[in-house]
Amino acid sequence: MSAYATKLNTVRTTPIINVKDETETVKTYTLQDELCAKAKPGQFLMLWIPGIDEIPLSILNAGNGEVQVSVRAVGDATRHLHTMKTGDRLGVRGPFGTCFTETRGRALLVGGGTGTAPLLFLAKRLAAKAERLSFIVGAKTKNELVFLNELDALCTDESAISTTEDGSYGLQCLATDPIEKLVDSQKFSMIYTCGPEKMMRKIVDIAEKRKVALEASLERVMRCGIGLCGSCMIGKYRVCRDGPVFTLAQLREMKNELGISRLGFDGSRIEV
Ligand SMILES: Cc1cc2nc3c(=O)[nH]c(=O)nc-3n(C[C@H](O)[C@H](O)[C@H](O)COP(=O)(O)OP(=O)(O)OC[C@H]3O[C@@H](n4cnc5c(N)ncnc54)[C@H](O)[C@@H]3O)c2cc1C
Ligand code: FES
Repeated sequence: MSAYATKLNTVRTTPIINVKDETETVKTYTLQDELCAKAKPGQFLMLWIPGIDEIPLSILNAGNGEVQVSVRAVGDATRHLHTMKTGDRLGVRGPFGTCFTETRGRALLVGGGTGTAPLLFLAKRLAAKAERLSFIVGAKTKNELVFLNELDALCTDESAISTTEDGSYGLQCLATDPIEKLVDSQKFSMIYTCGPEKMMRKIVDIAEKRKVALEASLERVMRCGIGLCGSCMIGKYRVCRDGPVFTLAQLREMKNELGISRLGFDGSRIEV
């Protein structure tokens, strides 16, 4: 039997338990799955949308036999998923990949768009153990900002910082703009980030300069999700197997690609 024919890698079909509208373009799905219910913050699952495609998604929440994912409609699979209702059946594999290290010190979480999903899962776990939690959540416009209320409730700093590029909510700037000031005024033991890769690249550079530990969750085109096909390569790493959560030391090794280029669906190199 192949080493890859594991329980985690077997597709389990399961009904949608609940669908929640987060914004005009993002919906949260609750599914029943005992294995994914044991996922740790940072891990992802492969969601099979029957007849359409199988896509990687970060886990937003897990426990009590259930798992949640938040999905932005961007293309064929995600748009089709957005038409599906409670009771419709999907397939899941996973959970896969590495998870965030949970610090007991001061944590800064920086999320962009649906990249905020794994950070909210992490924040729920850190709330009980970390000394202090600070957030910066950014998006292009107010409509794309997700999980603000949930993050505000968990934040142990004075307030969570929201940024939009068009100024429709919070500070009008990029999510990376407030970081240097914040990092200089507080001694963070860890920065966690997930979102657009150019944003994460800037944060990696700041963390490196200021000598603050950092973990980033990366996205790449994924097909197999288990380290076989190579479609998710960045440098010497496979994001599905060695990531998606990488340490600052690993991210340093990918500097020629991080925030610069990635492999497209046909294997050609394209700009991030
Ligand atoms: C580890 C991981 C976790 C993810 N978590 C989430 C999540 O929590 N919520 C969420 O909404 N999305 C998440 N994604 C992205 C999600 O997998 C894609 O949006 C989805 O596969 C798009 O499928 P589609 O058929 O709808 O769009 P497609 O028709 O395949 O693509 C539509 C557009 O999105 C771009 N795109 C598709 N997939 C990716 C990708 N992996 N990286 C960069 N650009 C891409 C395409 O280039 C194209 O421009 C995650 C991706 C990875 C690798
Ligand atoms: S998705 Fe196939 S190796 Fe990562």
